[in-house]
Amino acid sequence: MDAVTLLTTTRSVRRKLDLDRPVPKAVLEDCLRIAQQAPAASFLSEAQHWVVVLDPALRKEIAGITREAAEEAWRQYGSLAGERAMISSRHLVGHLDQVPALVLPCLPGPVPTGTAELSAYYGSIYPAIWSFQLALRTHGLASSLCSYHLGGREADVARILGIPDDVAQIGLLAVAYSTQREFSPAARPAVTDILSFDGWAKP
Ligand SMILES: Cc1cc2nc3c(=O)[nH]c(=O)nc-3n(C[C@H](O)[C@H](O)[C@H](O)COP(=O)(O)O)c2cc1C
Repeated sequence: MDAVTLLTTTRSVRRKLDLDRPVPKAVLEDCLRIAQQAPAASFLSEAQHWVVVLDPALRKEIAGITREAAEEAWRQYGSLAGERAMISSRHLVGHLDQVPALVLPCLPGPVPTGTAELSAYYGSIYPAIWSFQLALRTHGLASSLCSYHLGGREADVARILGIPDDVAQIGLLAVAYSTQREFSPAARPAVTDILSFDGWAKP
């Protein structure tokens, strides 16, 4: 697959996940090795830790926590999401215990508060998260972030997995082989609507 196709057709896949096919550890390791080439602020460049959950009993516990947190998030913010995204999100949350691999990228906590610090903090792991998702795609896998538990239930997941108190979970990725091979570019705003040169709104 060429780079432009990879970059324009890698989607957040929530309904086309193969729930019956295990994900080999070696594939996850290879994708993480690739993802570690992503940029990070120098003081955080070696600070990441990724926890992969394959054990069905652990996945079931985490899925239960996610379901409760998601119900609360949807009560509060569900009206902001598009209908299709909501259907997909509900489907994923409803099947999360069956998703073969749950992946939690982590950084040392606490999460900073200043704008510049926050930018460097999340900016030091989201490039790697996206590279990981792209690398998964090259192996025929798909993924979606599904991080509802960060809304008040992070400590519950930390306790289940033995994640230390001073470590922050950045998200939860649902990872599986994809039942669909081909994906299309998504509808996005036209570049001319979101871009201006030499200032905010130059014609
Ligand atoms: C930072 C971030 C957090 C996200 N969290 C969730 C989530 O908790 N649940 C979910 O269903 N999708 C989540 N998503 C996926 C987005 O909803 C998805 O990217 C969006 O629907 C557009 O779909 P696409 O990526 O296929 O274009 C997240 C995406 C990002 C970048």
